[in-house]
Amino acid sequence: MPLLQIKNLTHWFGGLRAVHNFHENLEEGEIVGLIGPNGAGKTTIFNLICGIYKPTQGEIIFDGENLVGLPPHVITSKGIGRTFQKLRLWRHLSVLDTIKLAHFSRKNYGLFDALFWTRRCQKQEEEIEERTWELLKIFGLTQYAYARAWDLPYGLQRKVEMVRALVSEPKLLLLDEPTVGMTLREMYETMDLIREMKEKFNLTILIIEHRMKVIMNLCERIKAIDFGEIIADGTPDEIRNNPRVIEAYLGKEVEV
Ligand SMILES: Nc1ncnc2c1ncn2[C@@H]1O[C@H](COP(=O)(O)OP(=O)(O)OP(=O)(O)O)[C@@H](O)[C@H]1O
Ligand SMILES: [Mg+2]
Repeated sequence: MPLLQIKNLTHWFGGLRAVHNFHENLEEGEIVGLIGPNGAGKTTIFNLICGIYKPTQGEIIFDGENLVGLPPHVITSKGIGRTFQKLRLWRHLSVLDTIKLAHFSRKNYGLFDALFWTRRCQKQEEEIEERTWELLKIFGLTQYAYARAWDLPYGLQRKVEMVRALVSEPKLLLLDEPTVGMTLREMYETMDLIREMKEKFNLTILIIEHRMKVIMNLCERIKAIDFGEIIADGTPDEIRNNPRVIEAYLGKEVEV
């Protein structure tokens, strides 16, 4: 059974059909690309998987369980992590606190424990502290622990965001344009980082990208959509030569 199975997914925003009959069978360990022109419905598909929107129609089955109707924090705790198209980091938080804060779903102590700093509360906070430093070390961010995330170079901010998405120990990671706005060097570093993360944390990855270099290099399979509908599904080579994909991107400078 696939790790993520999407069937007949359709979503309307008022009178606008953003996603139409989308389907996908994502096998464990796969890295699959989702491409399509601006406004094609890519981010909406991520938001539907994560429970930000409830689909007008369709099923989203993750690890054997239908996610439709579950709130976002429950979906996160089931093993789905994500990063956002537009960076969402807290302006005043240090890198350390950004990652520590992301552990909220792992805490199970109550207000009483927090107020009276009980042993149970202390123990959990110590574990979170330890785990945060471990993650910072793995990702080479230790030296930036006390810097404000916002003050870091853009590439590192994106890295912090990815680490934050891993805190909940996801099985599936959704990356929404992870290299947008990056320099070429940052782009290549991010591609290496994604490969490394995938191996180290046994991830299955669904990735949205406009940069074909990233998609073609990272993905085993690519799904192309336009106006919310699938127009092609295949290997990088099949997608590169698919007339409907070329047509959807016509007039745009895309190295398909
Ligand atoms: N919350 C919303 N309310 C109404 N319409 C929306 C909403 N979110 C997205 N849309 C519309 O749905 C369509 C799909 O948008 P979406 O953001 O999913 O596209 P995308 O493929 O991610 O595009 P891009 O590559 O520009 O990020 C667009 O026409 C967009 O304007
Ligand atoms: Mg988008």
